[in-house]
Amino acid sequence: MSRPSPRTWMLASALLSTWGLSCTPPEEPFPNQDELEVLQSLHTPSPLPPRDPTNKYGDNPAAAALGQRLFNDPSLSSCGDVSCKSCHDGEGRSVDTAVARGCNGTLTGRNPPTVWNAGYSTWFMWDGRADRLWNQALLPLLNPVEMNSNAGHLKARLEADYADEYLAVFEKEIGKETDPDRVLANFGKAIAAYERTLNRHDAPFDQDVRRFLEAAKAGKAEEDPAYLGLKTFVRKGQCSACHKGPMLSDDQFHNIGVKDLSDGQRGVAAAASSMLEWTFNSAGPYSDAPGGVESARLLRLRNDLSQKARELEGAYKTPTLRNVQLTAPYMHTGELKTLEDVIDLYDKGGEPVGNYAGRVSVTVKRLDLTPEEKKALLELLESMTGTAK
Ligand code: HEC
Ligand code: HEC
Repeated sequence: MSRPSPRTWMLASALLSTWGLSCTPPEEPFPNQDELEVLQSLHTPSPLPPRDPTNKYGDNPAAAALGQRLFNDPSLSSCGDVSCKSCHDGEGRSVDTAVARGCNGTLTGRNPPTVWNAGYSTWFMWDGRADRLWNQALLPLLNPVEMNSNAGHLKARLEADYADEYLAVFEKEIGKETDPDRVLANFGKAIAAYERTLNRHDAPFDQDVRRFLEAAKAGKAEEDPAYLGLKTFVRKGQCSACHKGPMLSDDQFHNIGVKDLSDGQRGVAAAASSMLEWTFNSAGPYSDAPGGVESARLLRLRNDLSQKARELEGAYKTPTLRNVQLTAPYMHTGELKTLEDVIDLYDKGGEPVGNYAGRVSVTVKRLDLTPEEKKALLELLESMTGTAK
């Protein structure tokens, strides 16, 4: 069976509308050229994350080995029993509760995202208050509700247990570090080097997309088992407007109407200004590449804050969908327990106005998915679980 090209289809629907026929025009075959390009963007990520020029130790194996020990060490916390691993462990590298427990049983304000594939992002935390993986690590270390630590305690722990490794990686004796901020930055850089090895992709999803693209080329898209899932993801659901590229994330911030009446409800709109002034940001003195691209990135965000203020109100980072089946519950609040709940939220076009910071979600609209489309979308999300390396 030959399939009409998009051009023929456009012509046909133009004719139909001039004739004023009341029947609906035949649906344009999926994928059209634009959709094909989106599908091609969803390919398997490169095996290792792109280099981070702001961390010169990022791909240093000795730094990664040091980082791995630090990641797992609860003695770095003031209470002595909370490490990064406490909240980023197990198959999903997260916790299975909405929020997590830090020092003295205090609860975090938000759901811990996975640290799988963290090296592929450039913004961190749901509200983007860290702009590189290494500076992100300082936030939980110092946060009173997480590890509640400080530079003095960190330095003492490094001197006691990590002196040789520190010297080998940073070429300076830890005892001779006079700048507490340098000790913090180096801690973050070693942790990031380790996190950059926590990669988990190569999912059944990738094979499905590759096979589907071949089928589409042969004019047999509709016969492929992934047809309905991909069509719903890309066309009717518009998921790929934000969940695109190899990581299934645009690494940007959007308000999708997630219910949140907490103090943190303004998302990036509230967090960005202090990040832009932060000593440890990627354009600051502790970055190994402070100029150029990094300054431009921050400048763009600064401009967005003034020019797109309304869009950034209540906006959070688009999370990767890789391994999403392993990281329930969902959203920055951790309020949605299952992927079915997530699909239902999108289906109704977000929570009703008044339940979240943005007065209207400028990004999502009601979808009215059929039960078949919901099922196909769910199976697609479940197929995104990758292989741990
Ligand atoms: C008490 C629990 C807890 C501890 C301990 C903890 N985290 Fe987290 N982590 C979280 C929460 C909650 C978030 C999300 C916070 C937010 O966005 O406001 C998070 C976010 C992150 C992110 C951002 C991921 C992304 O995609 O934006 C990374 C990376 C991370 N943590 C690494 C670490 C490292 C490294 C440590 C140790 C130095 C650590 N975490 C300690 C709970 C924790
Ligand atoms: C306008 C951009 C946008 C669109 C369109 C979009 N998403 Fe999202 N997605 C996000 C953002 C932003 C979040 C986090 C929101 C929050 O926590 O407030 C998110 C969260 C999620 C999560 C939760 C992941 C986690 O780790 O908590 C899933 C699953 C998800 N989206 C799937 C989908 C599906 C399926 C579609 C299509 C029906 C879709 N998204 C459409 C931006 C988008």
